Amino acid sequence: MAIIYSDTSKEIHIFNDQISYIIQILDNGELGNLYYGKKVDHKEDFSYLLEGGLRSLAVYTKEDDYFMSPQYTKMEYPCAGRGDFREPAYEICQENGSRIVCMEYQGHEIYKGKKQLEGLPATYVENAEEADTVEILLTDKLLQLDCILSYTVFRDYPVLTRNVRFVNRGSQKVALERVLSASIDLPDAEYEMLSLTGAWARERYPKARKLAHGVQGTGSRCGCSSAEFNPFLALKRPGASENLGEVLGFSLVYSGNHMEQVCVDTCDMARVQLGIHPEGFEWELNTGEAFQSPEAVMVYSCQGLNGMSQTYHKLYRTRLARGYWRDRERPILINNWEATGAAFTEESILRIAKTGKELGMELFVLDDGWFGKREDDRSGLGDWYVTNYEKLPDGIEGLAGKIKKMGMRFGLWFEPEMVNKDSDLYRSHPDWILCAPGRIPSPSRNQYVLDFSRPEVVAYIYGLMEKILSSGDISYVKWDMNRYITECYSAKKTEREQGKVFHQYILGVYALYERLTKAFPEILFESCSSGGARFDPGMLYYAPQTWTSDDTDAMERVRIQYGTSYVYPLSSMGAHVSEVPNQQTGRVTPLKTRANAAMFGVFGYELDLSQMTELEKAEIKGQVQFVKAHRHLIQHGVFYRLLNPFEGREAGWIVVSEDQSEALAAYYQMSAEPNGPWKRLKLAGLCPEKKYIVDGEDARVYSGSELMNVGIIVKKESLCANGGDYSSKVYYLREKA
Ligand code: GLA
Repeated sequence: MAIIYSDTSKEIHIFNDQISYIIQILDNGELGNLYYGKKVDHKEDFSYLLEGGLRSLAVYTKEDDYFMSPQYTKMEYPCAGRGDFREPAYEICQENGSRIVCMEYQGHEIYKGKKQLEGLPATYVENAEEADTVEILLTDKLLQLDCILSYTVFRDYPVLTRNVRFVNRGSQKVALERVLSASIDLPDAEYEMLSLTGAWARERYPKARKLAHGVQGTGSRCGCSSAEFNPFLALKRPGASENLGEVLGFSLVYSGNHMEQVCVDTCDMARVQLGIHPEGFEWELNTGEAFQSPEAVMVYSCQGLNGMSQTYHKLYRTRLARGYWRDRERPILINNWEATGAAFTEESILRIAKTGKELGMELFVLDDGWFGKREDDRSGLGDWYVTNYEKLPDGIEGLAGKIKKMGMRFGLWFEPEMVNKDSDLYRSHPDWILCAPGRIPSPSRNQYVLDFSRPEVVAYIYGLMEKILSSGDISYVKWDMNRYITECYSAKKTEREQGKVFHQYILGVYALYERLTKAFPEILFESCSSGGARFDPGMLYYAPQTWTSDDTDAMERVRIQYGTSYVYPLSSMGAHVSEVPNQQTGRVTPLKTRANAAMFGVFGYELDLSQMTELEKAEIKGQVQFVKAHRHLIQHGVFYRLLNPFEGREAGWIVVSEDQSEALAAYYQMSAEPNGPWKRLKLAGLCPEKKYIVDGEDARVYSGSELMNVGIIVKKESLCANGGDYSSKVYYLREKA
């Protein structure tokens, strides 16, 4: 790994043993991109990669010099208005109304390690040897405005991270109207763009489309990363598959409004961009002030989509997620939401918890309904204290104590960013919600969004949460966010500051997370947003796991977890076994299949255990034991997608230990096919030479090469439900000693 600057060619070559990224300082002081891809050996001069020449209608950077036209050059961080008519990476409005900016190279600094971003989540290193960073300083001399582009290359991953910082050293105010975290021009557009799109209860479905001339992309303007479009895109070569071929991944470490797009010009160059969504964003920068963009994480893979995903998984699991629970085995939980909703009593809670304990579960989570006057979703949000002593006679402290006495940990649900009108909080501070002057705030789930751009609002919520969390023995917090942001206007800000509110809101969320995780370092945080509407890398920095979806139907979950796995590790996906008929789909799937799906995530249960038959309880006990025995492998192993549920009737995946000595593979029959073909599940990631035993199958010994090239014979009769609809099987493989 190194970053080398060549003074003769004015190039910066950022590389490790897997990737290369080459930037050139152009004659006019702007930066151009010469290359991004698989590693190329270093040499002093790659300038032949800068292509230029005379073209009609082109605008040039110098008189009588027909070489460099911005429109036809691969730019590094392009501006608008000076001859590049593609999408700009940034836009800045000045006091006189001009948006013309000339950012010129001033110098750069190369150092070991990686700096953290102030107030924002980002990947990190544990020692300076793990990464090299270069910060390139560009300045607009007229405005005395600096733009610092930072690039970090990790030693052990084919990863480049980028962020941008603007600093105003001039005497006039400037308004940042667009500040993307990364922009890169690729020399051709022979790619398919893969996005993760969805909606509530069917989040992060993979969707691919061939790039075409024009702008194509996704984004969110609802105040959070959203169930609709994840802050991610990948470009894959048309022939690339799960395990072969070139794939470029782009992921944004951010939980607010975002945009990711590819702009293909009519000469077939592809400009990839991602960052904060420019719509609704305007950041006035006064003299001496700075603005920091979120981080973009670029992953290169020449081993297909699985190769890309495995890099994201390990990086996000070990160098984005933090804290006490990062590497620890997560407790198997039982959550009461789908069993009782808000209509519980202490007695019903203790009954479920007691059964959970008997079946081996380790954490009881009390969901929505414990605070204020919370009977349904019309009241109580904002009042994070117990007032209903009929429900909870000894408060949270008492209940937590009783659960602890049973030998279980205790967890609690919060929705810190929201308020109901029927609450003490709203009655005393009606101006604390986001709402435009003279307008009626639009309702959603009968709740309104607190103005987290205001530090006093965040401080008040911190005070309430801190009190509850220190009152009882609380080991886990589920942090929910159940509506999108509308009327995004802050009563405490001036007219010119309203364009900051969306971003400052999410900075407020991050600040509260930072304070709470510092004050309670051993509490396990799980983020949630009506299921998976804020499943993004930003959240993983604070909460190592996220509630993947409100849809717990096993077949739907296989799809959702499959899609989520394109970027996010199994250790981040909260996954529960719930009752049938399923509350979202009405589908009745076998208990075994429900567990077989949920165990490829952070495992738990969400149903009334006390209502289950003895037979079912015995089965659950076995499942819990099985997951306890294998959760280390599931959490830390290397994951491969095998059979795509979006393409056929089956799904399959495998997680293999890093030393390839054991693995857990799963096969799911999404719908049965009458008189269908014989089935084989070809595995991946095993050591071809090693010998493996497939537990519970037969006494045969298989080589890794056999299991990967021939496959496991999936016998209909060995699947639960006899190979019918929703049947499945999990195979545990271990190396033969
Ligand atoms: C959201 C969450 C659920 C549950 C409910 C409670 O929908 O996703 O898991 O916590 O809120 O209101």
